Amino acid sequence: MKHFFSLNPLTEIQLLTLLEEAKNYKSAYPQILDQMFCANLFFEPSTRTKMSFILAQKKLGIETLDFNESISSTKKGESLYDTAKTFESIGADLLIIRHPSDKWIEELSDLSIPIINAGAGKAEHPTQCLLDLLTIYEEFGSFKNLKVTIAGDIKHSRVAHSNVKALQKLGADVYFSAPPGLEDDSLNIPNLTMDQAAQISDVMMMLRVQHERHNDIVDTNNGYLDNYGLTKSREKIMKDQAIILHPAPVNRGVEIDSSLVECERSRIFKQMENGVYVRMAIIIKLLKEWGITTDENTIEKRNKILKYKQASSM
Ligand code: CP
Repeated sequence: MKHFFSLNPLTEIQLLTLLEEAKNYKSAYPQILDQMFCANLFFEPSTRTKMSFILAQKKLGIETLDFNESISSTKKGESLYDTAKTFESIGADLLIIRHPSDKWIEELSDLSIPIINAGAGKAEHPTQCLLDLLTIYEEFGSFKNLKVTIAGDIKHSRVAHSNVKALQKLGADVYFSAPPGLEDDSLNIPNLTMDQAAQISDVMMMLRVQHERHNDIVDTNNGYLDNYGLTKSREKIMKDQAIILHPAPVNRGVEIDSSLVECERSRIFKQMENGVYVRMAIIIKLLKEWGITTDENTIEKRNKILKYKQASSM
C-alpha cells in the first residue's frame, strides 16, 4: 500500500489486524525513531479528524505541520498538486489530506511520500470507517450477521460509502434508511423505514444531512426528525443491546433527538476517542510499508510498566 486512500484493498484479516493494533495502542504504542514531519492539509472544515490526526502524530513522536487553507497560497490560485509537491519539497515525510474532490488521489499518486485520506468528497472517509468498525468490534467482538443500518443522507456521505464495503467484507448485514432524494441506488442495499430499522438493527448509524454538498434536497426544518430521524420513541423499540453511532458533527434535533446523543446506547463520543487510536494504527502501518522504523521495544517496556502498576494496585 503506497498511499492509504480506501479500505477496499484490505482483506478481512488485514482489517481485523488493524483493529486489534488500534485496540492495543490504547495501552501501549510505538515511537517513531527518526525525526519526522507530517503535514495536515485540510481543504474542508474539520474538528475531529484533524485534531485526532494531530494527537495521533504527537503520541507517536511525529512533528506536525499545520496548514490553514484560508491564508495559504491556494488563495493565489495554487492547485492541490502544487501544494502537496511544496510540502514534499520542503521536507514533509507524510501528508494527511481532506479535499472536496472525490478523486484527488489520482493526481497525487506519484508523490514520493505517503498520503493518508482524511476525507475525499462524497467518495471515501476510510479513517472514519475504521473508528466506526473499532467501536462496533469493541462492543460485539465480531461483525458476523450483525445488522447495521446507516440512516440519513446516504447519497452525499463518504462515511456511508466507506462503511458499506468494509462492513459487508467483515460479514455484517447492511441496510439503509434514506429519506426520498437522499438514497444511493447504485449500492444495491435494502432501504428500510426508520421504524423497521429501529426494530431490527444492532447498530443504528445516523448521518447528518450534508447541506454543503447539495441544494437542500430535503427540508430539515419541518418534520425531518419525526419522519426520518432517531426519535425517543424509536429508541424505545431498539433491541436491548443495540447501539447508536454518528460520525458527527451532530445536528441535534434534526437527524437525532438531542437527548439521545449522550444516552446509554450512544457510542458517539467513544467513536471520537477511538479515532485517535485507529489513526495511530494506520500511520504506523503505512510508515512500516515505506520502511520507516519504529521502536517496538517501547510497547514491551510500557506493557511491563502497566503490568507492574496493575500488580502493585492489587
Ligand atoms: N466525522 C468527521 O469527519 O468529523 P470532522 O468533520 O469534524 O472531522
